[in-house]
Amino acid sequence: MSDIKSRILSVGTFVPDKVLTNKEIEGFLDTSDEWITARTGIKERRIVDKEHPMSAADMGVKASYAAMERAGVTADDIDGIIVATFTPDNFFPSTACRVQSDLKCNNAFAFDMSAACAGFAYALTVANNMVVSGQARTMLVVGSEVISKTLDWSDRGTCILFGDGAGVVVLQAEKNRNPVRGILSSYLFSDGTLGDLLKLPAWGDERFLRMKGNEVFKHAVRFMTDASLRAITKAGLDVNDIDLIVPHQANIRIISALAEQLSVPMDKVAVNLEKYGNTSSASIPLAFEEAWLDGRVKDGSKVLFVGVGGGFSVGSMVCVM
Ligand code: UT7
Repeated sequence: MSDIKSRILSVGTFVPDKVLTNKEIEGFLDTSDEWITARTGIKERRIVDKEHPMSAADMGVKASYAAMERAGVTADDIDGIIVATFTPDNFFPSTACRVQSDLKCNNAFAFDMSAACAGFAYALTVANNMVVSGQARTMLVVGSEVISKTLDWSDRGTCILFGDGAGVVVLQAEKNRNPVRGILSSYLFSDGTLGDLLKLPAWGDERFLRMKGNEVFKHAVRFMTDASLRAITKAGLDVNDIDLIVPHQANIRIISALAEQLSVPMDKVAVNLEKYGNTSSASIPLAFEEAWLDGRVKDGSKVLFVGVGGGFSVGSMVCVM
């Protein structure tokens, strides 16, 4: 066993200025603020302005600056960058390589990962393993998405759900200390047989995000509950030991069902989807940052991250702050 743990030093985020409210969506779609709020919990989302386009790399860079400043690390300190995104700037070069060059992280390797809304949990797991194994000392884990450009804005079953944004954590190696802190456990799971429930084709004329919402909903609750329990057990903890759950922000009803399944009160769950909608790989760091700034994340806090998305891909981890 390695005597190194990786510790989350900081989180930083970026969202575009443009706010799209449910009321504004009522203006061009057969839907209502009441329906969207009641069925999803979402009131508004941020989207990239067509007049001032931004890419996943652009937003990832801005969020990285915020995270690096908070962590007190410089570009030269960064050994590796992983970007989780399903809306990359290009098939290649990777979005991560653009982030690396813009940040001038000249010592860092960089690559992208694709695990849809579980992307952040996957990227954090891989980065953790790289840090613990000694491959890297300090890493940026980025989730960044420009989902607005993948949406069919006439499909009310999907376009009302999503938003754009980016979030980054700085991960750093630390010699194991007492009391222990850093990432204690992680769990990953995939079920490719469910791939057609939620997809964004790379080719063809129908390059829009499509989803069988109802079925995705049921699997999401089941997978997130199972993944949460597995990461908690692997960490040698009990659900009651967890101070804060930071779930992927897809739908308040999914999050409430998760809390109910785990018998955890909602005041132990970070939720901010009312402001940002579902930002896929950026949603966990966006909710995590808000909870941290609100004083809900303190030294020694035990935090559970859990995400689920297209693939299906599921990921969870427990860390001590
Ligand atoms: O990030 C991970 C991936 N995504 C998710 O986890 C999302 C999972 N799914 C969901 O959040 C929900 O399934 C939705 C919010 C997408 C839909 O909510 P629902 O309660 O599952 O509604 P439904 O699809 O069963 O549709 C119920 C009714 C239908 O009308 P009829 O057939 O009963 O007349 C829909 O046509 O609601 C209608 N509907 C809408 N009505 C107004 C669907 N979308 C809308 C809408 N506005 N935007």
